[in-house]
Amino acid sequence: MSESTSSVRARFGDRSLFPLLGARSYLNHAAVGPPSSRVCAAVRAQQDAFASQGAAAWMPGMAQRERVKVKLAQLLSVDPKDLALMPSTTRAISDLARCFPWRPGDRILGFEGEFLTNVTPWRVAAEGFGASLVLLPLGGFRGPSVEAGLAELERELRRGVRLVAVSAVQFSDGLAMPLAAMARLCHQYGAELAVDAMQAVGNLPLNLTELGVDYAAGGSHKWMFGPDGAGFLYVRPDRLAGLVQRVAGWLSHEGPPGFLFPDGGPVRYDVPLRRSIDWLEVGAAHGLAFAGWEAGIDMVAELGVPQIRAYTQEYHDRIEGAFVELGAQSLRSPDPTGRSAILSFRLKQPLTPVFRSLNESGVAVSTPAGLLRLSPHWPNSFDEIPEVVAALARAIEA
Ligand SMILES: Cc1ncc(COP(=O)(O)O)c(C=O)c1O
Repeated sequence: MSESTSSVRARFGDRSLFPLLGARSYLNHAAVGPPSSRVCAAVRAQQDAFASQGAAAWMPGMAQRERVKVKLAQLLSVDPKDLALMPSTTRAISDLARCFPWRPGDRILGFEGEFLTNVTPWRVAAEGFGASLVLLPLGGFRGPSVEAGLAELERELRRGVRLVAVSAVQFSDGLAMPLAAMARLCHQYGAELAVDAMQAVGNLPLNLTELGVDYAAGGSHKWMFGPDGAGFLYVRPDRLAGLVQRVAGWLSHEGPPGFLFPDGGPVRYDVPLRRSIDWLEVGAAHGLAFAGWEAGIDMVAELGVPQIRAYTQEYHDRIEGAFVELGAQSLRSPDPTGRSAILSFRLKQPLTPVFRSLNESGVAVSTPAGLLRLSPHWPNSFDEIPEVVAALARAIEA
């Protein structure tokens, strides 16, 4: 990475690290966090290392991924040894679902409205291992308090549940889930809690150790500005021994990659698989993505996740009322602990023309599950808000 690029620090409300970004107001980090010039430089540096050194760049690449693990562990307040680097959130959850020690008749509890990443792998695992998947409505968690949601969860747990799968933040309306209370309840009834943290890591402080969750997964390319093709799986240390090694590859063995070159002997196939969670790092990884991700994590860490949360909440505070005045219904949680960096609205107007018009005005948003979703991050400036509101006014009049 060139000194000049690497030395430009991240600053709230400052887009100078994103010179290529087209949209005037980019409010779509819940879909893709565009790579900054620092991320692009890190990817290029990794590519150049392979171009100039070939195989000799491989070991530094492994060391680079270990650095990602350490930095990610700091962000999540876990021990790096409890993390596996994965190609995506979906791959992480799929591998977890495959390796979980299912017993026939197990019940898995998920939630209606979750992103497919946190439903499909559980459904496939249920079909493959003689378990069943039940989806609960999320409505009880949306009130002024989460008590109704927790009571519904407890009712289901009483009927016997092996694992509860929930997103830390719901992808469509941004509802932040009460993970600590859910983990406590799950454990009280002998269930385990698996969390899809994709929409939280990088914008919401997450201390996985304190929250007490059993498993968590996430990815690089949204709130951490990394390239896609990089993610993680966290497994609480006391859950590790229970997992069944149903997924493994050449890099899963003990002592990689030295076992490939035993002193003078042939390749050995009897080297045991590692029992640390990094056994799931099964083969070649997307090294360029991990190089970019490190640069993205650095930017987030420079600013601080609690400060990012405060900043995105202030952005929401400043824009929400103006959208409501235009007739949009805000789905922001009345309970501040239920808020995330995603702010969604229900419109009376059909969404597709509104989306198109906003796009033409240079306002990038998404429309998941019939909602208009704004997802600002630290590079968004409060100064852009009047323009965004004017663009919505034009879009709904059209
Ligand atoms: C909650 C959630 N989980 C997972 C994903 C996808 O993750 P990945 O592409 O890393 O598999 C998304 C993408 O929108 C998401 O919103």
